[in-house]
Amino acid sequence: MSSVLIQNGTIVNADSTVKADLLIEGAVIKEIRAGIPPSAADKVVDATGLLVLPGGIDAHTHLDMPFGGTTASDDFETGTRAAAIGGTTTIVDFAIQSRGAKMRTALDTWWKKAEGKACIDYGLHMIVTDLPDAGLEDMDEMVREGVASFKLFMAYPGVLMADDATIFKALRQTAKNGAIICMHAENGSVIDVLVRQALAEGKTAPIYHALTRPTRAEAEAVHRAIAMAEMAGVPIYIVHLSSEDALNEVREARDRGLPAFAETCPQYLLLSIDNMTNAGWEGAKYVFTPPLRERGNQAKLWAGLRTDTLQVVSTDHCPFCFADQKAMGKDDFTKIPNGGPGIENRMQLLYHHGVNEGNFSVNRFVQLVSTAPARIFGMYPKKGVLAVGSDADVVLWDPNQEYTISAATHHMRVDYSMFEGFRVRGNARDVYSRGEQIVSAGQFIGKPGRGNYLRREARGGAWK
Ligand code: URP
Ligand code: ZN
Ligand code: ZN
Repeated sequence: MSSVLIQNGTIVNADSTVKADLLIEGAVIKEIRAGIPPSAADKVVDATGLLVLPGGIDAHTHLDMPFGGTTASDDFETGTRAAAIGGTTTIVDFAIQSRGAKMRTALDTWWKKAEGKACIDYGLHMIVTDLPDAGLEDMDEMVREGVASFKLFMAYPGVLMADDATIFKALRQTAKNGAIICMHAENGSVIDVLVRQALAEGKTAPIYHALTRPTRAEAEAVHRAIAMAEMAGVPIYIVHLSSEDALNEVREARDRGLPAFAETCPQYLLLSIDNMTNAGWEGAKYVFTPPLRERGNQAKLWAGLRTDTLQVVSTDHCPFCFADQKAMGKDDFTKIPNGGPGIENRMQLLYHHGVNEGNFSVNRFVQLVSTAPARIFGMYPKKGVLAVGSDADVVLWDPNQEYTISAATHHMRVDYSMFEGFRVRGNARDVYSRGEQIVSAGQFIGKPGRGNYLRREARGGAWK
């Protein structure tokens, strides 16, 4: 069994920062303490001046996903390679149940998509589109397969949207099987009326995607989702929360002691509707749901991360190339495939704008990008922490490396960056996944297909 000693680094966990050495033996962490002798390992790495972090966990990605008449441009190989370069060693992607089909079929399909391709470990949430009473036990079967979470949509009527009865039944089933429901919370019926009206008035440009999805439509759905979870007596996780209005609903619920969790994404923290206003067709680069909001929401979301109203930062990475895929909606914003790229840049952006700009500590950073998603989604302490016995998913993070984000140099298979020209300080230098070095000085050196499917434990969001 090969061993690696990482010496002289600063080991950062969500609850501690210590100067110590870290010994990897095989796929796991064997020892953490100051003064481990070099003779203990086959290879010694000097981490002087570097932070040693648990590998990042991106709990919301869409690789090789069919959507809006096309397929997300990153597959499990290109997407997970880019993730690794950015310091992410685990993703949780989404399998989609087709209407009328079994969840088992979707799971088999997504395993095949990842097979031979995934460069890092991956879990799967199941998107539920069809839930007859007989299908409730299929949820339990999925839980036995390590699918500890399900996503339901309150938006996209006629495509993905679930009605309240379906949502309530799914929530109640998680009381029995311990899984957690991830909710896409937007009032799809209201949005549909606004969209039809806009089109009837000849408003077809990308900006109307954002203007037909008001923050109240998000807040109302968040409120309803949490209320249904409360009635079912289970926790709930709101995905890609984008606005102050919606945030207030989560805060109010948490103040009442409810186990309501929520994530936001870098695009909502750092971009705003200004990126679309006057951008004309270029605005299609920012067509995703929920949409970009007025700039004033950003500070509220940063505050939400500081105060634990928001627990997780994920990417909702769902890339479509501007030249040919976004172009499907050139004359009609509703035909622009919804989604944007970001899997590679999450850690850089959150470190720079979170830690360097004084929004929160480096420990809180680790909590948001690794420990909290590991806990909520049933991967802790295998993932999400540097501890003896945990998987050796380790990032050597250079807090002083400056980097400019650009489509010209990124590794995601997409022809634009939402964060083009953003200058950040702090970047992943070396990355280990289960003890194997997969990134060296920012270059990917791992092998596609080495990533394992993660059987996650259903622990009801680990809130009890
Ligand atoms: O626009 C988005 N967010 N696309 C991905 C699907 C989803 O709703 O998460
Ligand atoms: Zn969604
Ligand atoms: Zn998504």
